[in-house]
Amino acid sequence: MMMDRISILQGDITTIEVDAIVNAANSALGGGGGVDGAIHRAAGPGLIEECSRLGVCDTGSAKITGAYDLPARYVIHAVGPIWCGGEDCEPALLASCYRRSLELAVEHGARSIAFPAISCGIYGFPVAAAADIAVEAVGDFLTTDTSLKRVLLVCFDSEVFGCYERVLAELRRRGQWQRPRLLPGPAG
Ligand code: APR
Repeated sequence: MMMDRISILQGDITTIEVDAIVNAANSALGGGGGVDGAIHRAAGPGLIEECSRLGVCDTGSAKITGAYDLPARYVIHAVGPIWCGGEDCEPALLASCYRRSLELAVEHGARSIAFPAISCGIYGFPVAAAADIAVEAVGDFLTTDTSLKRVLLVCFDSEVFGCYERVLAELRRRGQWQRPRLLPGPAG
């Protein structure tokens, strides 16, 4: 896996200066609570107006918009699966969210992208399993992509941050983490 361009940090994704931030959206793309609410509040009303013209988005897929008042250039709205016990393709759908978001970012010329822990809040996905899937999906994508220089996995709370740290520690132990660039602690 190509791990040297992946970093984790704890903080608020709406403050991060990258080309694209990913939103953990619902299929109606109508805004909501959690990170979705935070992104819409910080972006201003132009974002919901653009989203309302996009139609619905399937679970496991993503759509891209402008970022309005956010420091990013784009918002990629990914629809994660609702956790229903794990027998309903949730892991594959979550991996698909990461892949599709990365594809959209590359198609739009983004060199940097930040993800929240998609599905790990209101949608109830077990965090340790989701962290594994996120790191593996991003790492796999980067083995064939050379245009993305920086992928940030942004953890809002310390439980999620701890799970990502454990996943990366295990990869380091197995020699698959080449140049760690961990940014621990709350983002300033
Ligand atoms: N920055 C980064 N991460 C955040 C932020 C933020 N500002 N706010 C919340 N989070 C984290 C949560 O702590 C959680 O770990 O994002 C992760 C995803 O949680 P949710 O936002 O609840 O997203 P999800 O579980 O995918 O549920 C999506 O919630 O808000 C609605 O419209 C959304 O219906 C959709 C559902």
